[in-house]
Amino acid sequence: MNITVIGSGYVGLVCGSCLADLGHKVTCVDTNSSKIKSLRKGKLSIYEPGLEKLIRKGLSKKNLLFTTSYKKGCKNQILFLCLDTPSLKNGAVDLSNLYSAIHSIKDHLTSDCLIVNKSTVPLGTAKKIKKQFLKSVKFNVEVCSNPEFLREGQAIKDFMDPERIIIGVDSDLIKRTMQKIYCSINKKHNKKIFMSVESAELTKYAANGFLASKISFMNEISILAENYGGNMNEIREGLGSDSRIGPSFLNAGLGFGGSCFPKDLKAIIYEQKKLHLPHGIVASALEINKRQLNLFYKKILNFYQGNIREKDFFIWGLAFKPNTDDIRESVSIKLIKKLSPKVNSLTLYDSLAMHNAKKALKGIPNINFSNQKYSNFNQIHGLIICTEDKEFFNPRISELKKLQDAVIFDGRNILERSILEKNNFHYEGIGV
Ligand code: UDX
Repeated sequence: MNITVIGSGYVGLVCGSCLADLGHKVTCVDTNSSKIKSLRKGKLSIYEPGLEKLIRKGLSKKNLLFTTSYKKGCKNQILFLCLDTPSLKNGAVDLSNLYSAIHSIKDHLTSDCLIVNKSTVPLGTAKKIKKQFLKSVKFNVEVCSNPEFLREGQAIKDFMDPERIIIGVDSDLIKRTMQKIYCSINKKHNKKIFMSVESAELTKYAANGFLASKISFMNEISILAENYGGNMNEIREGLGSDSRIGPSFLNAGLGFGGSCFPKDLKAIIYEQKKLHLPHGIVASALEINKRQLNLFYKKILNFYQGNIREKDFFIWGLAFKPNTDDIRESVSIKLIKKLSPKVNSLTLYDSLAMHNAKKALKGIPNINFSNQKYSNFNQIHGLIICTEDKEFFNPRISELKKLQDAVIFDGRNILERSILEKNNFHYEGIGV
């Protein structure tokens, strides 16, 4: 099938290159000409395992094209919308990128088409888009909702082997078209779930709201564990073995970040308030997440009785999670901004996100970056771990022993307290 993917950001690139790999002929449209120029050469400005390779494959097979031209893009009758929908200051969703794409489509449409919306949008947006076309173009434009559930760091796998594909449609014809687009995915186990357009839009928010609440719930319990001597690793195992709860997303820690959870929670809360609806769990999940960072910060201060002026720390992990260079809403970056004016120095390390972190932390005092995770440990007082990167799981004890104050603040519970204490370290985790 001939498909156009509008927006060559994270979701658009994964979606476009995967659809091309599934045998479709895909045209990716983005208004950023320098980005399109690089993409034509197979070069990406974001890191996602396997993505560059897949894009190069599509380019060489000539079933993946990149263009800034809506005219070219609108020649296809299936248009995927993969536009960024960030948060406005008041928590509302900023739909300006989405609507500017809609306007460009309207200007260049030459036939009937199906718009497949992958962007996370407030309830009712697909209907509003459809109305706009009804008012202003002579072609029949259908709009369906196909929210994206990709996780950064494993997005290709999530697209090619999804647990489910949620598709909100309001006609059998669109349903059949969507079946065809995804026919080679989940051949053995059909995971396509069809529902109304509104339900699909809300399923996306509900999924992210629920997952974020799971994390905040564990973080709330971790405070009890700390006070009563429980261990969140054991509690997680006990809790996760109940099939009604499930074992994943139960890691207590510094809390969630990234481009989705904080933004989507804010959007849910905004919509609830706008409509004067009863609310609670989602707002609490967001509050607990903020509190979690402050509690960790206080743990560091408390260890030093409030005085960290002369202290030097090494921070491992700058991205919002492992295996990505994405620092959006990264808890680590927030912690660095809080700590940096109070300390003598912070040395920062991340194997993928240094470049982005340098940009985000420009002008922040007392920080420096290191390409090696053990550099000058003998001049460092304590180690702070912010992401559960595999490379941090088994640190070299001989290197850690160089730390002047022999203290480790583990924001992701990845190290073993007993081993560290045997080696005379002071260890602070999150409820472990
Ligand atoms: C998330 C959703 O998982 C995905 O379905 C959606 O499409 C986009 O948002 P992503 O933001 O890539 O994906 O990251 P995810 O792996 O879900 O982690 C989000 C945050 O939660 C990270 O900061 C992570 O460190 C944190 N987290 C995750 C925890 O603190 N504890 C956990 O148990 C799991």
